[in-house]
Amino acid sequence: MAIANQHSGPTHTKEWELLCRVSELKNGEPTRIEIGDLKLSASKIDESVYVVSDMCTHANYSLSDGPLHLENLRIECWKHGAQFCLSTGAALNLPATRPLDTFPTEIRGEDVYIHLSKKGQQ
Ligand code: FES
Repeated sequence: MAIANQHSGPTHTKEWELLCRVSELKNGEPTRIEIGDLKLSASKIDESVYVVSDMCTHANYSLSDGPLHLENLRIECWKHGAQFCLSTGAALNLPATRPLDTFPTEIRGEDVYIHLSKKGQQ
């Protein structure tokens, strides 16, 4: 599933932005969401939403097309099998070696908000 968020753009990089409705995310499945030029992968796992950059750092395939591993909070690239930590973005196995960007999120009622400053840069 993919969502194009048309109401905001990357110019608001220091603010919380509306990402989507909670109901637009399926528990345990990644969803591709675009905010302006920013391509993101959002994964709802129980009461938390994890957002990482959507493009695999190995060869730019969409991670939202691959599986999640709920037991250890990983997303797997469907193309060559690299796995990334949803919390830290760390590349956990070859062929990927570079981490994904990760973004803080907050659920406010029925909405999911994202802070567009990457984690660690707030
Ligand atoms: S493109 Fe993702 S592991 Fe190769």
